[in-house]
Amino acid sequence: MSQSSLVSEIIRLKKERKAVILAHNYQLPEVQDIADFVGDSLGLSIEAATTDAKTIIFCGVHFMAETAKILSPGKTVLLPDLNAGCPMADMITARDVQELRRQYPKHTFLCYVNTSAAVKAECDLCCTSANARSMVRDIASAGGKVVFVPDKHLAGYAAATTGCDIVAWQGFCPTHARITPEDVLRQKERHPEAVVLAHPECSPEVRGLAREVVSTEIMCHYAHNMNAGEFIIATEIGILHRLRKENPAKRFYPASEEALCPNMKLTTLEKIRLSLEEMLHPVTLDRDTLFRAKKCIRRMLEYRS
Ligand code: 13P
Ligand code: SF4
Repeated sequence: MSQSSLVSEIIRLKKERKAVILAHNYQLPEVQDIADFVGDSLGLSIEAATTDAKTIIFCGVHFMAETAKILSPGKTVLLPDLNAGCPMADMITARDVQELRRQYPKHTFLCYVNTSAAVKAECDLCCTSANARSMVRDIASAGGKVVFVPDKHLAGYAAATTGCDIVAWQGFCPTHARITPEDVLRQKERHPEAVVLAHPECSPEVRGLAREVVSTEIMCHYAHNMNAGEFIIATEIGILHRLRKENPAKRFYPASEEALCPNMKLTTLEKIRLSLEEMLHPVTLDRDTLFRAKKCIRRMLEYRS
């Protein structure tokens, strides 16, 4: 099937199924272009919680589709490719959290949204890269101490910018780990006027070279509103499509071409079509996990940044 027939077929099936297509900023260009909403983890969660569509086609990775299901348990949430996981989310299990709880019984357990529902069910609160700092600050100002899982880099960034002590699990994103300070410096040399924007999943050395350290959605916002014409982007390269589309007069350079998340590229138009036609692959969660994970996630949506 040609790309244009695939697109027409998806639009037809979407109407029939009363479905909405949500896509993360790292998705393939053609997937972003067909989506009803493109955004970061926080924006996608808010959209999933508020849409009146009956079915959500989630173009992202597994934990994102699971989060949508937790927030909208009455809806059918479909993940077009079941193999689209997140290696960072897989770096911690519910058992690991239970063990940590024994070591830090009085700490507040804050998990990154990049975790399984089973891990969320064991934690107290959940955040995204857009609101981790505010949540850490609020826990600390109420006298609490934080254990953060699983991303050591987001934990380090939140600790450094809030001044709070954080016990961090040593997980990380393998895609962001491919971006080195040398990559950024090389691009800086080539484009001396360019503003560096980095994601908090980057190493502290890379973050140290950035003007702003922000979630993918806030990155799009800065790129659009900053009075600058060139940017070096230190995050997964899928975001370049949206940045260039929304800012045709500006120039965007990837910090590293190697920063490609293979899981984010598994969703294709053909798989979206098949998913809509055959209702593949619905996210299911047992009632107890869903209930406990929802308690953990509840407050995440109240923190916009
Ligand atoms: P955000 O889009 O929420 O910044 O997250 C990035 C990410 O790595 C998602 O997997
Ligand atoms: Fe997970 Fe990193 Fe891919 Fe995001 S970019 S889905 S954190 S592996």
